[in-house]
Amino acid sequence: MKLAVFVGTKGRGSNLMAVHAATQDGRLAATIRLVVGTKDDAPALVRAQEAGIPVAVVPTGDAYESRLLAALEAAEIDTIALAGYLRKLPEAVVERFRARIVNVHPALLPSFGGKGMYGHHVHEAVVAYGCKVSGCTVHFVDAEYDTGPILLQRTVAVLDDDTPESLAARILPEEHAAYVEALQLIATDRVRLEGRRVRIAQTV
Ligand code: GRF
Repeated sequence: MKLAVFVGTKGRGSNLMAVHAATQDGRLAATIRLVVGTKDDAPALVRAQEAGIPVAVVPTGDAYESRLLAALEAAEIDTIALAGYLRKLPEAVVERFRARIVNVHPALLPSFGGKGMYGHHVHEAVVAYGCKVSGCTVHFVDAEYDTGPILLQRTVAVLDDDTPESLAARILPEEHAAYVEALQLIATDRVRLEGRRVRIAQTV
């Protein structure tokens, strides 16, 4: 699988590095051929460069959509993983990579998703609401925020004395594991999309 990972300006790049590590030690049958960001000083892009992964900086604005498509084409990308990319993808990209774009979200969708619901904001909202369980969701990406079909979810208990920070710290490793697992399911062609439902073929 020829993967592009899209990162944002605010992320640490931990999901990117978790996916990268899995491609290196054989847990994930994929190569990260490109890391895409909108600003060259984004911490996740810097980490990618340090790890020797090719990066493309595609600022939003003029010719954003065509430059994005050209970069993906040039690297012969077949699958996109969003990791902290906080923007909606242009429709042409969603069309071109239909059912080949995934995202990881640090809560159990469809709760606590949507525009502005990222990072700390998500865990703060979960704790403030008084949820007893949270977790993470890997889902396919459509042209909206956090609404695409769910590929897999992992749950994490919310403890009575949890703060947004302590909850985030327990969910993050689950995100990393879930993302690698979901990407490996796609890489090994075990995922079927039937409308909103995602069927996963079991191995024998
Ligand atoms: C993660 O919490 C992910 O769920 C969300 O953005 C954050 C990115 O973190 N979509 P990192 O940059 O991968 O550490």
